[in-house]
Amino acid sequence: MVRLHVNVDHVATVRQARRERFPCPIEWALGCESAGADGITCHLRKDRRHIQDADVRELRSRIRTLLNLECSLDSEMVALALESGAEAFCLVPETRQEITTEGGLDVRGERARLAQVLPLFAERGGVVSLFIDADREQLAAAADSGAPFVELHTGRYAIARGDERQRELERLQAAASFARSRGLRVNAGHGLDYDNVAPIARLEGVEELNIGYAIVAHALFVGVDAAVAQMRAAIAKATRNSKSSGGIP
Ligand code: PXP
Repeated sequence: MVRLHVNVDHVATVRQARRERFPCPIEWALGCESAGADGITCHLRKDRRHIQDADVRELRSRIRTLLNLECSLDSEMVALALESGAEAFCLVPETRQEITTEGGLDVRGERARLAQVLPLFAERGGVVSLFIDADREQLAAAADSGAPFVELHTGRYAIARGDERQRELERLQAAASFARSRGLRVNAGHGLDYDNVAPIARLEGVEELNIGYAIVAHALFVGVDAAVAQMRAAIAKATRNSKSSGGIP
């Protein structure tokens, strides 16, 4: 089955709104694991708007599954990531003003910095994915970079409607197939929710989905156990029955 990594950033967003000690993203991550998450993802942003350095340390020491740390190519962030003890890293673009990660990494433009940092992650046994748009040139550059994984940005698919959504889905499938043909392994994420996850879970070659906002938001109503279990069930149903259309089971 396609693995589910739950992104816990927005639990920290709520905590940071009051600079309180609760809600605790670590306790919430442990709840995600109990409910069947295959791993936990967090994004240590340079502006520290949600996850803090201490959260990363505590997540790594307390969760039992894999920690996937998202970070930019900024030298300070890369240094922190290398020391974090996380097993997996997703390299993302980051701008100060954006509400969330808006586009994929410009792998072609970042070739030089990637050539410097990828060996450093590899030396520590870290598995790196590059968060990129479903763009052939970027995928080819990702394959040339030597990174083992890409994470396909599903944000455009998530906000598209009707025929446009279908076109975005086809672009993602073509991207996943091309990536696999170039030796890359493929994850996907951004903007996925209970209603739109099924077609992405069914994309051939996709191994892991990173989902945060929708699960955190749903958990406000049903609790973390049910929110994670329902997303797992939606993914399982999609991959079991290729004709199902998704939604909260
Ligand atoms: N993947 C990456 C690389 C991201 O930056 C994010 C958002 O932090 C996600 C997945 C999860 O997106 P969402 O919170 O919309 O599910």
